[in-house]
Amino acid sequence: MKKRETIISYMEYQGIGELPVTERKLVEEAVSAASGAYAPYSDFMVGAAILLADGTVVRGANVENAAFPSGSCAEKTALSFTVANYRSNSSVAIAIAALTGGKLTPEPVPPCGNCRQMLIEEEQRLGTPIKVILAGQSGIIVLDNCQSLMPLSFTRSNLVK
Ligand code: THU
Repeated sequence: MKKRETIISYMEYQGIGELPVTERKLVEEAVSAASGAYAPYSDFMVGAAILLADGTVVRGANVENAAFPSGSCAEKTALSFTVANYRSNSSVAIAIAALTGGKLTPEPVPPCGNCRQMLIEEEQRLGTPIKVILAGQSGIIVLDNCQSLMPLSFTRSNLVK
């Protein structure tokens, strides 16, 4: 028997002003994307902005539904659009932000498990890291890749017989 450990590391910034300019602009895109959310049930408006290698930014927001599970997260919306329309143009970073009561949340909002799963699939398909920027009013977390979000994740290699 062996005990194994997985350690993840990330950067924490005190606010948007501390971020390097590329990350800052992407966070601004995510905040702006959040205002496009359709979230009448939760009043939790999430925005995601994906930066592609050529500088294109793809934005997404959560879209809720009266049948709750039919809704879609912001990250999933943005990522699905990216994969469907820009598959040969690699994603290099994703910023995520949420508004509640019309204001940016104090804490950074982490992606849900489903969205983590989708981000990891895309990162593995590309073979290059996708940086993750989680933005809140009083704190911003930056991870160098999506895999750090979910150690021991289920991936295509688990399907191979
Ligand atoms: N939501 C996202 O858009 N992304 C996440 O990663 C977490 C949750 C949305 C789903 C739902 O519309 C609302 O936030 C409240 O859960």
